[in-house]
Amino acid sequence: MPSQKWTKSSWRSFRALQQPVWPAGSALEETQKTLSQLPPLVFAGECQTLKAQLADAVEGRAFVLQCGDCAEDFSRCTGPDIRELLKVILQMSVVLAFAGEKRVIKIGRIAGQYAKPRSSDTEMVNGTELPSYRGDMVNSPDANLEARTPDPRRMLEGYYRAAATLNLVRSFTLGGYASLERVQAWHRASLDALPAGQKYEDLVRQIWKTINFMTAIGLDPQHTPQLNQVTLYTSHEALLLDYEEALTRMDSTSGGWYDCSAHMLWIGDRTRQLDGAHVEFLRGVRNPLGMKVGPSYDIDTVKALAQRLNPDNEPGRLTLITRFGADKIDSYLPKLLKEMKQEGFKVVWSCDPMHGNTYQNEYGQKSRKFEDILREIKNFYQIHKAEGTVAGGVHLELTGDHVTECTGGSRQLLDKHLHLNYQTNCDPRLNAEQSVELAFELAEMLHPCK
Ligand code: PEP
Ligand code: CO
Repeated sequence: MPSQKWTKSSWRSFRALQQPVWPAGSALEETQKTLSQLPPLVFAGECQTLKAQLADAVEGRAFVLQCGDCAEDFSRCTGPDIRELLKVILQMSVVLAFAGEKRVIKIGRIAGQYAKPRSSDTEMVNGTELPSYRGDMVNSPDANLEARTPDPRRMLEGYYRAAATLNLVRSFTLGGYASLERVQAWHRASLDALPAGQKYEDLVRQIWKTINFMTAIGLDPQHTPQLNQVTLYTSHEALLLDYEEALTRMDSTSGGWYDCSAHMLWIGDRTRQLDGAHVEFLRGVRNPLGMKVGPSYDIDTVKALAQRLNPDNEPGRLTLITRFGADKIDSYLPKLLKEMKQEGFKVVWSCDPMHGNTYQNEYGQKSRKFEDILREIKNFYQIHKAEGTVAGGVHLELTGDHVTECTGGSRQLLDKHLHLNYQTNCDPRLNAEQSVELAFELAEMLHPCK
């Protein structure tokens, strides 16, 4: 139990749910050894900076935009795919910052979101029962037994792809691509015809006016880092503990342990048992942490978890990501907020409006309705307002591509259209247009006058 000393492998004496059964004789040990000798993907100072920024979101001085794929796909670790995702995140954050007048902390579900919890160990694919797809770092989604057999060497592949992704993210965000002067270039021509496209054009004009004004009074936009560089932090669900342990390193400056696979790690709704291995592992690393909270929560357990994961009640350490669904949030969120506020827990409250709003359509596809996603966020804001707590951010599944996975939005996608470009290996994501549209709705909610 937690009174025992934490080590990066102490989770091994706890029950770990959702772990793959690696075949006997596979390269597990060798892979872990190799991973543990490879360079960290992030460094402790960056995690501390993110934690300090998240502390501002606890107080409502900043807004957290955490978003990206449900499950990253090895085959989409390409320059254009990464650029398109970054572009939509930049567009959304500029909308939130300019129209919503709030500092935006950008965290991608990127560079490591390769392992997925599943409700069942097997699934039926075209009439055959196969081991479930558990994310590219475990097995392949292809429909045959060999592809579905977990292979630990995929963790190494995941590490290299995460490193390559992060490398490009760092050069895009620091090397000029993210410069505010390119705000128009991030815009996609296809958005033009849509209401969100017109609003975006108006916003671009206002930003240009502001930049021109700054230049006119003598500021040099070229040499203003805030206009030319952004930081996109990385995050993923810390599910695959063999991988997370191998990437955990001691920071020589602070003497603390950090899971250097990403800046922020979260615990999923299915693996947040108080006496489980995931909680044991994450309590000992100093990264900022997230924890999903769904309708099955028990209030005393959530309090005990907050205490275990953040014993010093350090603001910015813990983000509670609620995911109840548009129909259920009214019955589940108020009590949670009341009790946590009463006990004085300092957490960032973030809304995941995706995972409680998934349905299966008549064609057998998993989808989500744009209107449900928006309704859950609106309710989230209203409930926070009523409880006197701070709505600190959102957690979204989206992509920079023109996929057709969620219905609704200004293009009014219907279930019957989803086959046109349904790509996801896992949950349905908002496409680029739907994401920018959602950002405008969000900006209205978080504007200080609201
Ligand atoms: C996810 O974020 O992809 C996920 C599986 O969420 P949850 O743990 O909330 O179900
Ligand atoms: Co998902």
